[in-house]
Amino acid sequence: MRTNILHPGADKLRYETRQIVEMGNRIAALGTPIGWENIGDPIAKSEQVPGWIKDFVREEEGENSTYGYSPTKGLDATREYIANERNLEGGIQITAEDILFFNGLGDAITNIYSNLHPQARIIGPNPAYPTHSSAEAAHSDSEHITYKLNPNKGWEPDLEELETKIEANPDIVGILIINPDNPTGFVYPQETLLKMVDIARRYGLMVISDEIYSNLSYEGSGMKKLGSVIGDVPGIAMRGISKEFPWPGSRCGWLEFYNRDRDESFDRYARSITEAKMLEVCSTTLPQKVLPRVMGDSRYYPYLAERTAKYAKKSKLACEILLKVPEMQMNEARGAFYITAVFAEGALTNQQKLPVSNEAQAIIEPYLADAKLDQRFVYYLLASKGICVVPLSSGFNSTLNGFRFTLLEADETKFENTMTTIAEAIKEYLAS
Ligand SMILES: Cc1ncc(COP(=O)(O)O)c(C=O)c1O
Repeated sequence: MRTNILHPGADKLRYETRQIVEMGNRIAALGTPIGWENIGDPIAKSEQVPGWIKDFVREEEGENSTYGYSPTKGLDATREYIANERNLEGGIQITAEDILFFNGLGDAITNIYSNLHPQARIIGPNPAYPTHSSAEAAHSDSEHITYKLNPNKGWEPDLEELETKIEANPDIVGILIINPDNPTGFVYPQETLLKMVDIARRYGLMVISDEIYSNLSYEGSGMKKLGSVIGDVPGIAMRGISKEFPWPGSRCGWLEFYNRDRDESFDRYARSITEAKMLEVCSTTLPQKVLPRVMGDSRYYPYLAERTAKYAKKSKLACEILLKVPEMQMNEARGAFYITAVFAEGALTNQQKLPVSNEAQAIIEPYLADAKLDQRFVYYLLASKGICVVPLSSGFNSTLNGFRFTLLEADETKFENTMTTIAEAIKEYLAS
């Protein structure tokens, strides 16, 4: 190329949760069966979409209009359904005009950062979900700025650190919350959310809340959506059906803008995102047609409750088993279907090993020299036991050493066995 074609932020786009799959596939090719505890696709882990949801999809698929474009912002009836559902919760009151559909929440995430002024920064949680942190870093061509979630305090955010960083950096224009959180399974208590909204109000910021797991919060978690705490502060809630229905292949997610009328530049920013969407025409039509029928059905919330009860049970079991290893620290998940285990400081060294075949060693060897301490453990766990999890450091931009795994395994005995194998592997690795 006669001139550099690479975007300055290109090196900031990384997604270890997918990269580790490549390594897993190579280990699998050696004949080792792999337990894929890494990727958050319920369908890939054999969860069954209920027959009645599939019936709605079939019925809508039979309609000729399903094959057409939908309006840029999304189908009117669907946006009205969502606005009404939100308004019934009694917090923020919105209209269909405040809702904008995307081809999955991943697409919405790309758009909220790419339409932001390059100097304007969003501070997000750490451990960081890479789709947000990479897109934010790429838009500004700088490292993503984060506030810590503290594993010693049940993953509560460090609000002092958050405020100190905001005060010191006038480029920070927004606070990102992922609630329930990926990778920790943490659900922000209402009091914490109110304090974060208060910080945003005092410094003139917006709050962005990724709520893709909000309907997958567990019983007793106290989950509150941003709409119920936002008051008069500009905010964006992000939702989708990938995890809920679950239908990740539908590529269907949306933004809800709150309090556009309270800040002119926030309103202009929201409009610029809509205008960008116009250039792209629209989002997938079929899932939008199905959405109000599914969410409005009396079977929907009982169905979600049944699923989350299973995740909660597995989260408890995982803690029971892994916390028997004194060097491990964990907090039970309160929502979503992930949990994170953290190694005590100083527990890991770059000399530890698990027994692996020569062929498997040859696959992980090239990655070991540059591997962070938790990456090294994760590669050995994969090569030795055939269990694929995601390291916290490289996967979630964290200074903690640990790993994330999912609570999606449908077979509870298999899940328990996997947890026991991981616990035994940790002991063996630490003692090596
Ligand atoms: C926190 C969070 N936000 C957004 C997404 C993206 O979801 P979608 O399938 O709608 O693109 C994910 C997917 O794992 C996620 O975990």
